[in-house]
This record gives sequence, C-alpha cells and structure tokens, in this order.
Amino acid sequence: MTQLTAAQTAQKKPSDGGRTLYGGKGTRRITVRDIAAAKERGEKWPMLTAYDAMTASVFDEAGIPVMLVGDSAGNCHLGYESTVPVTLDEMTMLSAAVVRGTSRALIVGDLPFGSYQEGPVQALRSATRLVKEAGVQAVKLEGGERSHEQIRLLVESGIPVMAHIGLTPQSVNAMGYRVQGRGEEAAQQLLRDAKAVQDAGAFAVVLELVPAELAAEVTRVLHIPTVGIGAGPETDAQVLVWTDMLGLTGGRVPKFVKQYVNLREVMGDAVKAFADDVVGGTFPQEEHSVH
Ligand code: KIV
Repeated sequence: MTQLTAAQTAQKKPSDGGRTLYGGKGTRRITVRDIAAAKERGEKWPMLTAYDAMTASVFDEAGIPVMLVGDSAGNCHLGYESTVPVTLDEMTMLSAAVVRGTSRALIVGDLPFGSYQEGPVQALRSATRLVKEAGVQAVKLEGGERSHEQIRLLVESGIPVMAHIGLTPQSVNAMGYRVQGRGEEAAQQLLRDAKAVQDAGAFAVVLELVPAELAAEVTRVLHIPTVGIGAGPETDAQVLVWTDMLGLTGGRVPKFVKQYVNLREVMGDAVKAFADDVVGGTFPQEEHSVH
C-alpha cells in the first residue's frame, strides 16, 4: 500500500464518511476499527503520551487521534528514574484523568512492569482494571514472542492491545537503552516478534529504537499499523513522549526527539516574572483586586 502525503490525506474522503484520524471531524471516540481503516488508506497518524486531564484536553482539541498513558509517566511525571517502579494503581489513576480530559482520542493505558509478566491471567486482571476503573479503550504491553499468550487472552476477552517491541524500557536492567535489531540475527528476531504480536491479535505495534530500514520492512510485512519512536520515517504512525516533544524534560533527550517548543524556558521565564512582580510589589494591581 502507498503512503499518502498530508495534503492527499486531507482531501481524501474515506468510506466512513470523510473521517480521517488526524484532521477529521468526529463526535465519537476513535476506535481500533478506525485505526485499521487508516492502515488500509495508507494514512499516517500521530500519537502522543499524556498523563493528566488538562494536557490531554489540549492534545484532544489539537486532533491527536491516539494518546498513550505511558509508563514513561515514571520518568516524566512521577519523578522516578525509570519506568520500572510504576504501579498499576498509579497507571489507573493517571489513565482515568486522561480519559476524563478527552472526548475524541482513543486512549491506550500502559500495563506497568510486574502487572502482566506472570502470565495471561495476571495480564487480564490488570488490563481489566485499566478498562473498568480508568475507562481506557485499549492497553499496551511490552514484548513480542514472550508476550503473545497475554495478548491473545486479552484480545479474546475483548480488550484491544497495542504491542511494543524493539527497545522495551521495562527491561532496562537486562537490555539497557540500546538500539535493537542491529545485525541479521537480531533483525530476524524483531520480525518474529512483530509477526507474533500480530498473530496474537494486537491492533498495532510500537517499534522503539530500531534501525529505520528494519522498521520499514516490518511496516511492509504487517497488516496492522506500526507506531515508530526512534524507528525512522516509514512507520504508519509516530509517537513521542510529550514532555520531550514540547521541551519540558530537563537535561538531554534522545536523538530521535524533535523539540517543537522549549516549554521549560517559557514556563521558567513566566514563573520568574511572577516572582519579580510579587517581590517588587507590581502584582496584584487594581484589575486583579476585588472590593
Ligand atoms: O511509556 C511510553 O511512553 C512508551 C512510549 C515511549 C511508546 O512506551
């Protein structure tokens, strides 16, 4: 299938009544069927992480069709050093906030480390919490062949699953933060992982930090969409961690991140201006006062 340019996508009138994932008008949430139809049309789409209601509402109004309540919340929202300590209680609370802040986007809740590795039954119990208590429409979990039984049971139980292969940050203690799929053997394993999650019923798969050529091959071979992060330009969708993309993250961000604004600087300058006004006695003024 051929990829469309952004202009072609905007002109296209798909069979579901003119609805495109990004830029389409909608009065209901995006569903996994819409995601499958976008792959059929060759339409690329953006995904962002979100961890709270207010930020998620900004992304929803901007037309972001899929949001991931990622366990990257560990580093980006909760002050942990990695995703490993994040708990299911924390993911449930954050996911519920994102669902409340949105009305159009498909919300994917991440299953944190330790909430599905024991096996399919544990995975179903954890995913059920995210669906029932938080109201997410889908869940994500890490692992290819090693997680296919979990994916299969969730899908059979009616819970759409986004898979995640390549670099899987919950395994940082075993694999570090390194490019995955380099070399023939590793590339073949990545392809096996991709096919395994598709066969198990995943509706999409995240490819994290894999060579662009390999991500392009996986995207050609699969009939479900690939969502790239550090995986080059050929995947069906692209995801970024919002605090990286909007420049709120302190310190270094990965090479694959494009920073669209420096929110850390914008916010820091505004906070200093407020503090200066208070210290200098120029805030509040008459218009900010009640009588
Ligand atoms: O937790 C997360 O934000 C993720 C994305 C990087 C895909 O898994």
